[in-house]
Amino acid sequence: MAILKRTHMCGDLRKENIGETVSLNGWVAKRRNLGGLIFCDVRDKTGITQVVFNDQIPQELFDKADRLRSEYVVGVKGTVCERESKNPDLPTGDIEIIAEELVIYSEAETPPIYIKDDDNVDDNLRLKYRYLDLRKKKMQDNLTFRAHLTNIARNYFAENGFTEVETPMLIKSTPEGARDYLVPSRVNPGRFYALPQSPQTFKQLLMVGGTDRYFQIVKCFRDEDLRADRQPEFTQIDLEMSFVEVDDVIEVQEGFMKRVFKELKGIDLVTPFPRMTWQEAMDRYGSDKPDTRFGFELQDITELVKDCDFKVFTDAIAAGGSVRGICVTGGAPAYTRKKIDKLTEAIKSYGAKGMVWMKVNADGVSSSVNKFFTPEALQEIADKMGAKADDLILIISDQNKVVWDTLGFLRRHIAGEMGLLDDEQYNFLWVVDFPLFEYDEKEDRWSAMHHPFTSPKEEDAELLKTDPHACKANAYDIVLNGVELGGGSIRIHDRDMQEDMFRALNMGEEEINEKFGFLVEAFRYGTPPHGGLAYGLDRLVMLLTGEKSIREVIAFPKNQAAQCMVSEAPGLVDEQQLDELGIKLK
Ligand code: AMO
Repeated sequence: MAILKRTHMCGDLRKENIGETVSLNGWVAKRRNLGGLIFCDVRDKTGITQVVFNDQIPQELFDKADRLRSEYVVGVKGTVCERESKNPDLPTGDIEIIAEELVIYSEAETPPIYIKDDDNVDDNLRLKYRYLDLRKKKMQDNLTFRAHLTNIARNYFAENGFTEVETPMLIKSTPEGARDYLVPSRVNPGRFYALPQSPQTFKQLLMVGGTDRYFQIVKCFRDEDLRADRQPEFTQIDLEMSFVEVDDVIEVQEGFMKRVFKELKGIDLVTPFPRMTWQEAMDRYGSDKPDTRFGFELQDITELVKDCDFKVFTDAIAAGGSVRGICVTGGAPAYTRKKIDKLTEAIKSYGAKGMVWMKVNADGVSSSVNKFFTPEALQEIADKMGAKADDLILIISDQNKVVWDTLGFLRRHIAGEMGLLDDEQYNFLWVVDFPLFEYDEKEDRWSAMHHPFTSPKEEDAELLKTDPHACKANAYDIVLNGVELGGGSIRIHDRDMQEDMFRALNMGEEEINEKFGFLVEAFRYGTPPHGGLAYGLDRLVMLLTGEKSIREVIAFPKNQAAQCMVSEAPGLVDEQQLDELGIKLK
């Protein structure tokens, strides 16, 4: 079938084109037959143009147009005319095409989902028919935006001396703390590759190999629970630099963000971005990725209540925990008992067993703990929290981690409910000086907070031998509006220090050799000091497009159960295939 070569895209035509003969290719978005007139909206990724088949055309063409249905793929040729009733909502709304030729390239069955940006279709249905979902302009715009961003990244990093290098996908486990996706090896029976959780070890080997500055836009795989900003396979903008310190890495990143925001949003970001230590972030925001677009900062009232008669507080303090709260300015009237009960339910998943609330009224303080405190004591707490009339105070007492996690969740959740999260405001923040280690309650052991190749801060280097868990790390996260966009560190490049690190993680010689022997060996042959960072590309695009989930900016994302709804992966495999791999299913 001959293609009716297009002269324009469906979003292109304006008043200036009136009188021109044009051709468009696209999908039928809508068709109405008003007796002697057929109106047909033709859509492609750039927009929609109205095409009119009138009674001046041969009957055969009119009949053909009458056969058109939604999602038929067509070519139309005709003359651009001014529209009688203009559509101010469409960029092409001033014009229409009076059709002279029509080619039907393919017919379509009634699609299982509507192709409409604001459609409320079930997510799994959207994902199953993703190729239809992708026809929506918003989805195509997101893909184009993403491609634009990756082009900017390639240009920026190349201009700054970075070489794009591909690292292998079939590798040994990488130490990013999630579960691996494993791939069995047919030619090495009983052995498995792991898909990379990140190119961490290989980018460090590139530094040993003299690449000096590396970057890559790279798929990473992590078998972890899914959330709005997490997918099992996602993309990093990954980079590593030799002969650098923290400030050098940060400066390059700020330049990158400046370029991205200027080119994609027309925004001049002010640099340097603010920096905050991990400790300050936890104390003030209860989060290592604080959203600084609004207040409701945490206040520590442990000292104030340590001798009170309320056992919930004093028991938590006696067990080494703390009592902290947030003051929700103007929150008292909106947060009824019912809404507070809902919050109390929601915080359970952060380990909190309960929550104390206080409301400041014109005539005093009412609270859920009236019977344990005198009115004066309640007022004292309210004063310490800086609360005024109509403010709501929420208090959590528990181990610090629970207190931080819960209040960190509450402040952002409530800010969302109160409409305080402005999508057009971009608050960047570097969180620095992370602890080098964290205690993993579930596994009952210490693990590296970033990864085991992160170096301790210079002043803590000696502590690595004597009191390793007190060390602070040369690690930094870049945070935007409460989302961790990226993270990185200056690495250990000294073999002895790397071994101290492994020892602090309780890893024996054998385990070290088995897991990272190749890297430790490489460090024997001359290693430059080096450091780097990786961005979550999906998260960056999500924030810049104002989307609420990274699924909206990934062409074919997985669903909540980590399944590809389009291809129905993961699938079953033949007995014979398993046999070849030497695998027997339980
Ligand atoms: P990290 O583990 O912090 O660091 O990952 C870097 C960034 O990748 C993004 N990210 C994810 N995005 C979507 N889905 C996921 N499951 C997911 N997991 C992580 C986040 C995160 O900040 N090798 C180190 C980097 C380095 O040290 O240079 C690393 O991978 O935005």
